[in-house]
Amino acid sequence: MATQAAQAFQIPDHVPPELVHHVGITESPEFLADPYAFFKKLAQDYPPIFYSVGSHGGSWHFLKHADAFRMLRDAEYFSNEGGTPFPRDPADPFKFIPIEIDPPDHRKYRAILDPIFSPQGIQQLDETIRRLANDLIDEVIDKGECEFTTAYGRPLPVSIFLDLMGLPQSMRDTFVDWAVGLLHSTTREGMAAAFGQIVAYIKQAIAEKRANPDDKVVSRIVHGEIDGRQMDEKESFGFVLFLFIAGLDTVFATMNNMWLWLAENPDRRHEIIARMTANPGDMNAVTEELLRMWAVTFSGRSLRKDLELRGVKMKAGDKVMSVLPSCNFDEEIWPSPLTVDFDRVRKPILSFAGGVHSCMGAHLARLEIRIGLEEWLKRIPDFSVKPGTEIEYRPGGVVGPEYLPLEW
Ligand code: HEM
Repeated sequence: MATQAAQAFQIPDHVPPELVHHVGITESPEFLADPYAFFKKLAQDYPPIFYSVGSHGGSWHFLKHADAFRMLRDAEYFSNEGGTPFPRDPADPFKFIPIEIDPPDHRKYRAILDPIFSPQGIQQLDETIRRLANDLIDEVIDKGECEFTTAYGRPLPVSIFLDLMGLPQSMRDTFVDWAVGLLHSTTREGMAAAFGQIVAYIKQAIAEKRANPDDKVVSRIVHGEIDGRQMDEKESFGFVLFLFIAGLDTVFATMNNMWLWLAENPDRRHEIIARMTANPGDMNAVTEELLRMWAVTFSGRSLRKDLELRGVKMKAGDKVMSVLPSCNFDEEIWPSPLTVDFDRVRKPILSFAGGVHSCMGAHLARLEIRIGLEEWLKRIPDFSVKPGTEIEYRPGGVVGPEYLPLEW
């Protein structure tokens, strides 16, 4: 495995040549051909810590659950400052909040939204999600086919997101277009155009909530206090924008992965339906195991201090990335990790990372996915991928099939 990007960046002198493997996560042909086969190969065949260079520069890659677990919890060594790959205009800097804030300040920002994203807060959305799921199914069920992403995978989380944020449902399709433009444009112009529209919309929404407060997310951010002062314009903007980036693509990429597997594995699909009928509570374990199998993203940090781990000497300033999908295939934690097994002893999956920065939307995402599965499988128990479909993946930090045409 090798990438062109690898040639464009200098490898630091302290990195031993035997630990350099340019695997090209999110961009190499091997990754794009079959990302989860690629993650399995990494987990099985590569050293637990190695150095690789991608289009965003070089970083240590962690493949073991224990090392990622430490990275996510040890703020003394691992910092979130500069941990995200998103480019910004140096003339107009701002932070993505809360992901780029280190403890102890980090908690102060999250506390503002705890009442909404806590399990109790999210549980109140159960009925809304179920109704929406059924409305979306109503639109396609009689057609006998759909493109899953546009029909269900995207509109479901986007509608819920708008509800939570306190933004109008009439924006649903526009938001879907923006999310796709921002996260999946093949051209810089496409990405910049979507970004410009999102920025303008968020700024206007912030101004509107400043004048007319409510109890939804954008308003809570705008009126939220940190150390007794109100958040400034840039903080509110960086917080709302990060929610947009974190909360949409991740859910539909995860659902696309899961529905592809369900479409291709009728026996396992029927097993889930039988479990759901016999014991609806089993759907939590089903959702958790599917989330383990299809982690869609990664976690980046930078080292504050020199660190030796598994005999590998890393230096302050080095970037580190935990390859969460490979960490979820660590057989020291999950025996036969490539088998989908709903009866596993529950261990902490890393799909939502962990530690203080663990995904703020994890309870929401779990609920959306579980209800999304339940309602779909009740009404469309038998479905398959349309014949002739070539499943395609695009480069990017969120992994899932681009399109998923289904028929039933
Ligand atoms: C299946 C869907 C999702 C997955 C797989 C996912 C994954 C993740 C991961 C891995 C992180 C940690 C990143 C790191 O430590 O570097 C994270 C953080 C975060 N996620 Fe999610 N996410 C999902 C859905 C959501 C949703 C629906 C929302 C909100 C509406 C959300 C909001 C956030 C926020 C705000 C953070 C930053 C937390 C912090 O820094 O304290 N995510 N997510």
